[in-house]
Amino acid sequence: MKLTSRFIKRTLSAVAIIAVGVAIGTAGISPSDAQMSAIAKQRSDAMKQNGGNMKKLGAAVAAGDNAAAAAAAAAINAVASQIPALYPEGSGTGETRAKPEIWQDFADFRAKANALESASAKVVADANAGNLGSDPKAVVGSIGATCAACHKAYRAPKPE
Ligand code: HEC
Repeated sequence: MKLTSRFIKRTLSAVAIIAVGVAIGTAGISPSDAQMSAIAKQRSDAMKQNGGNMKKLGAAVAAGDNAAAAAAAAAINAVASQIPALYPEGSGTGETRAKPEIWQDFADFRAKANALESASAKVVADANAGNLGSDPKAVVGSIGATCAACHKAYRAPKPE
């Protein structure tokens, strides 16, 4: 089944992300260059997945496909719960748009990831209940506001 294999893939990548976090946590020092580039790639992949799933969500709402909308929002929800682990202390150097402010107030950064988790969970619940409505902008926007809140505070502008 397609969904199942996608779920397994997602679970495996979550496990890989946690493994990197644990490796760095137990080292008790700043991440090595190799660990840094692994994290940078994982967080870039995770965020790109978010972007792709937001597009899928909009298309699903426009098509009135509740199951597809729930699946896209669930995928965003799964990534949201991994965000804090993708930003270990010391991973703000090198080629990254992650602002140093993340580690000055990590509780707030975590709260912003939690806000994405809650907003996407609500869309899953509404889709499953058939209460999603038919306005893709409103549904995507209800999640997108939480993406934007975090980017505004913690993502640096694109380098020239
Ligand atoms: C808790 C904070 C937070 C939330 C929530 C968040 N992001 Fe991000 N996002 C970031 C940060 C920080 C970066 C920059 C990461 C880096 O450069 O290392 C980023 C980068 C990105 C990128 C660029 C990835 C790349 O490498 O090109 C995309 C696309 C993106 N986010 C989309 C989203 C979408 C869509 C959502 C909501 C569904 C979202 N983000 C939610 C913090 C967040």
